[in-house]
Amino acid sequence: MATFNFKLCICFLFPLFCLVYNDSSILCEVGFCRTHLHDTGCTTPPIHCSVNNETHRGINLLSPTVCNCCEYCMPLYGEGEHCSRGGPGTGSTVGRCGDGLYCWPGEEDNYCGRMKSDCHSAQDRYDERERNGELGALEERPRCDGKGKYYKFECVPAQTCFCQADDGRRLFGEVLNLGVVTENTMHCGCSRFHDLMNSVIGSGVPAPVVGPRCTADGNYFPIRCINNICYCVDKITGIISKDYPTVHIDLERQSIAQLPCYEKDLDLFEEFDKEHPATFSSPCLMKQAEMVAEVLDSEEDEFNLDFFGGFPECLPDWTFGRIAVNSAGHKVCVDERGRQIENYHADRKTDPAAYNNMDCKCALTRKLMGDLPEKPVCCRNGNFRRIQCRRGMCRCVDSDGRQTEKETSDVTELSCYDNDTDWRTC
Ligand SMILES: *[C@@H]1O[C@H](CO)[C@@H](O)[C@H](O)[C@H]1NC(C)=O
Ligand SMILES: *[C@@H]1O[C@H](CO)[C@@H](O)[C@H](O)[C@H]1NC(C)=O
Repeated sequence: MATFNFKLCICFLFPLFCLVYNDSSILCEVGFCRTHLHDTGCTTPPIHCSVNNETHRGINLLSPTVCNCCEYCMPLYGEGEHCSRGGPGTGSTVGRCGDGLYCWPGEEDNYCGRMKSDCHSAQDRYDERERNGELGALEERPRCDGKGKYYKFECVPAQTCFCQADDGRRLFGEVLNLGVVTENTMHCGCSRFHDLMNSVIGSGVPAPVVGPRCTADGNYFPIRCINNICYCVDKITGIISKDYPTVHIDLERQSIAQLPCYEKDLDLFEEFDKEHPATFSSPCLMKQAEMVAEVLDSEEDEFNLDFFGGFPECLPDWTFGRIAVNSAGHKVCVDERGRQIENYHADRKTDPAAYNNMDCKCALTRKLMGDLPEKPVCCRNGNFRRIQCRRGMCRCVDSDGRQTEKETSDVTELSCYDNDTDWRTC
């Protein structure tokens, strides 16, 4: 056994020597394990990996034995099970706590318990309210990921799902809530990438940074271009698509629609594409680039051009946004193609509060719900009305349309009821 380790050590420290030292003493050659196992045998791995049910889970890893000959299974302990935190006198650590769990010191022994995180606390509050019977019919338990952070998206029952950051902030990207279908198709990778990009470099640079193009659901647009050369990328990861690893086109000579991954439905800028065939851009990005160029020119000419309100901020899908100003100077809610949604609007002069707080979240949700019944009722400016009613019961919702307390048949009992204003019209 000692000689094995010695050679292992040599190969580790001097790989070149090991290559040259190419006689029968190469350690992990074919057949080694068979002979070696014959000599020493393996210990039986814990059953966790082969069972992998609710109570016995584990992951297969390379065994820490010579030439990784043996099967190796690291058990993942469940909540309340004993665990080791390592250190002298604690015994050897065989497994570790499962996802979202942490090895907490207990009175006599250590045990796996939930990690402390904002998302877990939010779940605890939810569970507590459930025990107390305070939960509304349309409330959903917050979802956390394996690290205790907020899950990539959140859903409102019978409405929509939207992307969120791992700290629970709502992000760009919303789709109709289709349960399992949404689970499989909504990844929010592009949306979360933009958020990360803005937080890391956003404020440190003078001009806006252009991130990868996203689709309205927060996934990556299936095409990415470097100057005029365009490739197909994976909608989930944003890296070059496995289906078309070598395919690319040159916009100088070919149209973007020639790429096999081009999807007409996802292309919001078809008109723009026709006018600017050799660029992969959008009206908003182009406007932004023009303004940046003007500022740079003005700096060269030694005067400072300052745009009030800064450069236009394009959304991750490269559109101008979901709020537009019409010719009358009113803000209106628009969809991803710039089409006005119903008649939601706000006028700065007659209702400055509605104008300034306008977010169009309710209007967009209604738009996504299409012909479905029981759509939420919005305020005139397209925001969620704080009281929503359905089947004779009314409930309070937050600005994202999520129910916040138990529903009741008497609106005046709701905490969001305010008798100064008519709840029906916001
Ligand atoms: C998981 O499998 C183990 C071993 O077969 C068994 O003892 C245990 O009851 C199973 N747990 C569940 C929840 O089925
Ligand atoms: C709200 O209505 C109740 C009952 O009609 C009344 O007692 C109360 O003074 C009202 N509150 C305000 C702020 O007007």
